[in-house]
Amino acid sequence: MEIKKVGVLGCGLMGSGIAQTAATAGFDVIVREVSGELCDRGFAGIDKSLARFAEKGTITTEQQTEIRGRLRGTTSLEDLADCDIIIEAIIENLDTKRDTYKQLDAVCKPETIFASNTSSISITEMMTSTSAERQKRFIGLHFFNPVPLMKLVEVVRTILTDESVYERAVEFGKQLGKVPVRAGDKTGFIVNRLLVPYMLDAIRALEEGVGSIVDIDNAMKLGCGYPMGPFTLGDFVGLDTTYYIAEIMFNEFREKRFAPPPLLKRMVLAGLYGRKSGRGFYDYTADPKNPTPMKLV
Ligand code: CAA
Repeated sequence: MEIKKVGVLGCGLMGSGIAQTAATAGFDVIVREVSGELCDRGFAGIDKSLARFAEKGTITTEQQTEIRGRLRGTTSLEDLADCDIIIEAIIENLDTKRDTYKQLDAVCKPETIFASNTSSISITEMMTSTSAERQKRFIGLHFFNPVPLMKLVEVVRTILTDESVYERAVEFGKQLGKVPVRAGDKTGFIVNRLLVPYMLDAIRALEEGVGSIVDIDNAMKLGCGYPMGPFTLGDFVGLDTTYYIAEIMFNEFREKRFAPPPLLKRMVLAGLYGRKSGRGFYDYTADPKNPTPMKLV
């Protein structure tokens, strides 16, 4: 069960980061996107990130060229047929994911391990779109943004995952230079189960007038040593994504701590998604490096 060739589905923020990380670790990587334009956009992000590492001296310019040489893009699922593992990082939509896995199951060799980078969709629910044999080789590999920098990967097993496949995936996580943690297929796994209620609580604290955006951010950053306060982190992750994860977790557990607060819902409805839309808890439009807090309450 040696892993040599890695397939990545999706070349967005997460997919491109996963592809870059796997190529940096020495694997041959093929990335599939639905259009050439999306593929090019993802590869431009990889080039930018590799250039930053080269500038800092983390990698040499020769290594930069070698890593880039191990990466290939495609728009065809068939090109992933001989991959030893495929990591899926496409849109967080259950039907789209199930449909993609079904197609992939038909073209891939029997040994290929299927891994999803989903943050909140049940691995089991995706897995059942594939054959009984593939279901034993179906896991979650949940990475964190920005993937080339964040050291963690959650390795998720279902009740049907084959033990040797699971251990191989844990080993693969180490080969990628990450620290793997083992988690069961419970919505949110470890990190989001703890992180999401914390981020939602920060929004409730803001709604209740406990402190301002800047003060709550500074409190958690400087008082607890977190690299980003909860609002900066929410804008970084994307408030639409945070809302979506919270909704799924609330539907699964029916616990108040996972319920998205009204302010978050209204911000998402108003298109305030965070950094990617220019405004969230902070306004990034004038100076992205020095954003100003929004007036929300
Ligand atoms: N590629 C290469 N280098 C990068 C990079 C990338 N994609 N992103 C940042 N860097 C480099 C920068 O160039 C910078 O280098 P120097 O130190 O040489 O200047 C360095 O990393 C630090 O970057 P910044 O100065 O911009 O900012 P920072 O010191 O705050 O670090 C950070 C950035 C690593 C993102 C840090 O703020 C951090 O760890 N934040 C928390 C991120 C986090 O919690 N992520 C998880 C989100 S949850 C999730 O992803 C899962 C989910 O399911 C929602």
